[in-house]
Amino acid sequence: MSSIAVIGGGKIGEALVSGLVSSGVNPKDINVTNRNAERGQYLKETYGVVPFTENPSAVDEVSVVFLCVKPKDVANVVEEISDVVDNNTATTVVSMAAGVSNAVIEEALAAGAPVVRVMPNTPMLVGKGVSAVAPGRFVGEEQLQEVVGLLESVGTVRVVAESDMDAVTALSGSSPAYVFLVAEALIDAGVSLGLTREVAKDLAVGAMYGSAAMMQETGTEPTELRANVSSPAGTTIAAIRELEESGLRGAFYRAAQACADRSAELGK
Ligand SMILES: NC(=O)c1ccc[n+]([C@@H]2O[C@H](COP(=O)([O-])OP(=O)(O)OC[C@H]3O[C@@H](n4cnc5c(N)ncnc54)[C@H](OP(=O)(O)O)[C@@H]3O)[C@@H](O)[C@H]2O)c1
Repeated sequence: MSSIAVIGGGKIGEALVSGLVSSGVNPKDINVTNRNAERGQYLKETYGVVPFTENPSAVDEVSVVFLCVKPKDVANVVEEISDVVDNNTATTVVSMAAGVSNAVIEEALAAGAPVVRVMPNTPMLVGKGVSAVAPGRFVGEEQLQEVVGLLESVGTVRVVAESDMDAVTALSGSSPAYVFLVAEALIDAGVSLGLTREVAKDLAVGAMYGSAAMMQETGTEPTELRANVSSPAGTTIAAIRELEESGLRGAFYRAAQACADRSAELGK
């Protein structure tokens, strides 16, 4: 089993830790760092992981380091850990940061360092994350498979070209927030029709969960599934017409473009 360091036990770091521990990774093999010791204590009490406040000590002799800090903090963290990582050529550095390229991290480490860029998402917290993985120039197949294996314990994984990462951010990295927004809007719509908030939430979340499971489990195209529940002159097509006339599709094209543009900007 890999020994792992998670630098930055925030939202994504915690989602990763939580998923890894519930999938059977021994929490004693997971080092987690935060500058704030109280946060580390919380992660220790909740998951049993080993908390650190110093990054270099946390990455000593681990096989995979996950960088889960904000993009603006990646350069400093890589500089801090580079000596320790460079002394252990078996360590793979995995960056979860939006917009930060493999090349930027490779250049800050010793020549030939194995680096992998990942765009995760927060459903990782419940073992249903989606991670897109782009290997750097110096990653061997075995090292890549080790990272893929760890991420598969917290959801599904697709290996992609690094040039696709801005689009990936728009499709899976940020999209849980779009789904939560849609759920919020549907719940409010239910309340405006006279349902209690509690009932509206159960109905909206249950319908979204079931619909996602239908797409995933049957593999049927969303277009076909939607057509199947849209009877001629029926109730559903009346709602669909409103959504289309309100520009739902255009809103998603524009939102995805804005997200990908912002990801590209962060990388500059
Ligand atoms: N949230 C998402 O949905 C999402 C999705 C895809 C990708 N990402 C990527 O995941 C990364 C983390 O995002 P997040 O939302 O998890 O951010 P976050 O909640 O702010 O977590 C960042 C964590 O890093 C710690 N930290 C900051 N500087 C540090 C340092 N020098 N050494 C050690 N720990 C440090 C912070 O704790 P202290 O202040 O205590 O140090 C904090 O707990 C980002 O790069 C983001 O682009 C996020």
